[in-house]
Amino acid sequence: MFKQRNQQLFRLINLKINHPLSAFSASAPIAIKTIPISFSNKQFIRSNSTDPYISYDNSKFYVRRKKTHEEIHEEMINKKLKDPSKMVRLGAYFQTKKFNKNLTKYLVLAYAVFILYGSYHLYGIFIKQKELTNLNNKKYKLNSSFEKDDKGNNLKTYSIKDFEKNLNEYENIRLKELTGKLRERDIPKLNAYKEILKEKETEFYSNPENKNKKFIEHFDATKEFNGFTINNDDLPEYLEYMKRMLPARDTSPFFDDKASSYDSEIGTEEFFLGLGSRRKWLMKNAHGDVLEVASGTGRNIKYLKPTNIDSITYLDSSPKMMNETNKKFREKFPFYKKAAFVVGRAEDLLKLAGNTAENNKIEKVSQSHKVKYDTIIESFGICSHEDPVKSINNMLELLKPGGRLVLLEHGRSTYSSLNNYLDKRAPKRLSTWGCRANLDIGAILDDSGVEIVEEKRHQFGTLWCIVAKRPGDPRRYDELNFYEKYFTNVDDVIKPLK
Ligand SMILES: C[S@@+](CC[C@H](N)C(=O)[O-])C[C@H]1O[C@@H](n2cnc3c(N)ncnc32)[C@H](O)[C@@H]1O
Repeated sequence: MFKQRNQQLFRLINLKINHPLSAFSASAPIAIKTIPISFSNKQFIRSNSTDPYISYDNSKFYVRRKKTHEEIHEEMINKKLKDPSKMVRLGAYFQTKKFNKNLTKYLVLAYAVFILYGSYHLYGIFIKQKELTNLNNKKYKLNSSFEKDDKGNNLKTYSIKDFEKNLNEYENIRLKELTGKLRERDIPKLNAYKEILKEKETEFYSNPENKNKKFIEHFDATKEFNGFTINNDDLPEYLEYMKRMLPARDTSPFFDDKASSYDSEIGTEEFFLGLGSRRKWLMKNAHGDVLEVASGTGRNIKYLKPTNIDSITYLDSSPKMMNETNKKFREKFPFYKKAAFVVGRAEDLLKLAGNTAENNKIEKVSQSHKVKYDTIIESFGICSHEDPVKSINNMLELLKPGGRLVLLEHGRSTYSSLNNYLDKRAPKRLSTWGCRANLDIGAILDDSGVEIVEEKRHQFGTLWCIVAKRPGDPRRYDELNFYEKYFTNVDDVIKPLK
């Protein structure tokens, strides 16, 4: 550093002495005297590679003046513009006057692009939202019957069959896509429909009359696809997907053998997966008269608050697992009276509850039910039922109007690579834990009669947190999403009819 300064000093001395004006105004020692002043100038030190003076000949005198800050700055930038490093050159370019002059132009251009992109994006959202509203209106059209809830309000009730009748196959699948509930097995069919749509679009634009029209605005799915279905057997990807599903079976004997060691074996895995907080979520949703299906060894009892509920009924198909639930419950709540422990299969739930209606249609059966629940909960049970769709349909029939089915389940992921892994591991998992770990919980729910209110997925989509209800039952205000709360009129869905 010191050596460098000395070199600078030496350069300055030379400069002063050789300068024509120095001979005119002062002798060499005086010129040297000015050196410390030059050094104290911070600008000069910073620009140590530039000559701090500017000299020019104005015919009479040879004039010299100190460079302005701007001039030194510009010289520095010009020097950096010749730097071998691309990044330094780019940095310098951003400091040039030329760039600053153009900056306003660039900003206006960027703003225009932003506005154009934003409008295009908003237009897309608007078109989709319009399509969604039309589909929902069509889905809920007609076919409703009425039923009274606890407070005497008339509620519209539907069955999932009505929805299927109201929408054609394409509309049903498109509705799932628009609401983010498209299942893995639906993808081959959706792709097949997209192919058909592409052909229809080409045909539409080949007509000169449609030159300035937009296909999406003139396409009528009802007219085009009513009475039209695509056979799953014609979709190789669908068939491939179905092959990966293991056959279901009655798992009661398996869990009878597992009952005594179940808690100690599963404990560590649950701890590392952080399932405690999920179980807490499940139990927070339990209120009123509660039924827990496939209660196992009663691992949710830890999170139960009896003050939040009116009664609780436990059901499990394995007598030994039910014994464990009973022991755990009585250890924690020895004097709680409104608890029942039932050994039986979810597939036989209606019989067990004394609701033996022959007709399985929701609106008719509901009149004859004796036992009904405000909340039915289940955790990690669907994967071990012999007939999960029937089990869920039974649960749905035992729900009071306005009641909720709350599920905490594990199953297929949202990532195909993880699904491939789950498919490979499924047989091993079945022999260790008695469950089919690669099931698509969403597809099972779609096949049963429930309407999903909330579907949250965690752990790469393998952990399903579901709140569902009877089709057509009103949603509570807190169950609406932001858009529905503030931008749509969904009154007939939320408020019970007077
Ligand atoms: C994996 S354990 C889950 C236990 C518990 N729910 C938990 O979260 O730890 C599955 C339970 O479902 C029960 N189960 C299997 N099939 C059933 C059915 N069809 N109806 C009722 N319970 C069933 C088994 O006996 C077993 O206790």
